[in-house]
Amino acid sequence: MTAVKSICCIGAGYVGGPTCAVIAYKCHDIKVTIVDVNPARIAAWNSDKLPIYEPGLEDVVLARRGKNLFFSTNVDGAIQEADLIFVSVNTPTKKSGMGAGRAADLAYVESATRRIAQVATSSKIVVEKSTVPCRTAQSMRTILEANSTDKIHFDILSNPEFLAEGTAIDDLLKPDRVLIGALQTPEGIRAQQALADVYGHWVAKESILTTNLWSSELSKLAANAMLAQRISSVNALSAICEATGADVDEVAYACGRDSRLGSKFLKASVGFGGSCFQKDILNLVYLSEQLNLPEVAAYWHQVVIMNEYQKKRFVRNIIKTLFNTITNKKIAVLGFAFKKDTGDTRESAAITLIKDFIQESARVAIYDPKVDRQQIVMDLSEPGVVDTQQQVEKHVQICSSAYEAAKDADAVVLVTEWDEFRDDQLDYAKIYDGMHKPAFLFDGRLLVNAPKLRKMGFKVNVIGKTELAGKA
Ligand code: UDX
Ligand code: UDX
Ligand code: ADP
Repeated sequence: MTAVKSICCIGAGYVGGPTCAVIAYKCHDIKVTIVDVNPARIAAWNSDKLPIYEPGLEDVVLARRGKNLFFSTNVDGAIQEADLIFVSVNTPTKKSGMGAGRAADLAYVESATRRIAQVATSSKIVVEKSTVPCRTAQSMRTILEANSTDKIHFDILSNPEFLAEGTAIDDLLKPDRVLIGALQTPEGIRAQQALADVYGHWVAKESILTTNLWSSELSKLAANAMLAQRISSVNALSAICEATGADVDEVAYACGRDSRLGSKFLKASVGFGGSCFQKDILNLVYLSEQLNLPEVAAYWHQVVIMNEYQKKRFVRNIIKTLFNTITNKKIAVLGFAFKKDTGDTRESAAITLIKDFIQESARVAIYDPKVDRQQIVMDLSEPGVVDTQQQVEKHVQICSSAYEAAKDADAVVLVTEWDEFRDDQLDYAKIYDGMHKPAFLFDGRLLVNAPKLRKMGFKVNVIGKTELAGKA
């Protein structure tokens, strides 16, 4: 295999877009074409307002767009031109049929793979980039091999992406590791080396890990499951803290100082969200069930159950504190994205909380610095509950500042940890002045200095802390 000269990325989403933009940024000798079936998405990538918000992304795209980085809807043309193709399409949890609610829906991966098989006129390295269940590469290989000829050969690699949203560009520029799985055949290993050479433009050799295909596929699911497991563990402890007077920040810090545990991913919260954690754990649960390993399935499933419990517990606590009813009360929700520094709302805890508030007949005012109105309305619509835009807008008010949301509110609920909600950035005295009294504040992100806000008059509730503990 000669060096890769032309890359095609199928899927211009949160993973494919930033990843391949960074490849173009670091490899000026490689032509990178990112394609998508969604023309609006491609138009946005070619415009001044990129379809996703990610710190640093715009600089990277603007530096290379039109030079060696292209966004196009011409999927077939880009496939034909490329020597290496990333398949970076969505793999949502199946909504119906076998494995509904657990298994990944591989229809998009399959359709992209079939397209490659149909239109390729030369040999290709096909790389799974989307997170997929273990052994998906086998299905891709079967489809591609059925279409290979003497002249056209397909190699399959697994190269899962570990970037986190909000820090995608940093993660891509300085990855902890790059993982490339291949069949351990001479062709497979050659293809693995060709992709390693692409990353070798900017990633140190020691950080490029090569494994067999199945280890690579499973490692991605395992890494996400273990990260989510840490959050569920600390969230489970947060419930104990609230009941005992222990402080979850102190407990997490004390545990994290053990170098065998490490300090990251131990922040208690209102629950993890995002497109990956829940989906990947459910995938692992499904895989375990399929392999007839019920104890293993139950073990991982508990991570998701704990996450649901944490969200429900938070809502119950709010209702209880507001004298057991929130009917007609105004609740200001600060933050709608699943974490700070992203406009992504997939599986955001905010969605679950707000739907519960609506069910309890509260009036909800929402402010998020990066999520637009249309997205919020879409996320809150639910067939049979509030299924039309008008119905959603009857229950919720979407605001353009935290102050507007908190005006005349009975409670402020911090759901996303945006820096602008910190107590050294937001004018909490002003918020307090505008609220009904008693003015309640529920911090689901351990973001504010509760004693300071109590001095202003707020009644503050923080996840994993009690006022009785003194330092809460
Ligand atoms: C443990 C804690 O590590 C220590 O901080 C605490 O003070 C007491 O409990 P200990 O039980 O002495 O220490 O040994 P440890 O090294 O933690 O091993 C416990 C068990 O886990 C052993 O059976 C060990 O073989 C096993 N283990 C450890 C694994 O199976 N895999 C590992 O990766 C690490
Ligand atoms: C995750 C993985 O981190 C990344 O490696 C993988 O490629 C994709 O999935 P992402 O979902 O983008 O990335 O964000 P992440 O930072 O992992 O946060 C996920 C959720 O966990 C967020 O809702 C976040 O607020 C929450 N979280 C994270 C906590 O509640 N506490 C923590 O300590 C860390
Ligand atoms: P992720 O977070 O995994 O990147 P996204 O949903 O953000 O997921 O992006 C996946 C993209 O893949 C979408 O923009 C979707 O239109 C695109 N896509 C799905 N199937 C195909 C296909 N067969 N050909 C081209 N693009 C596709």
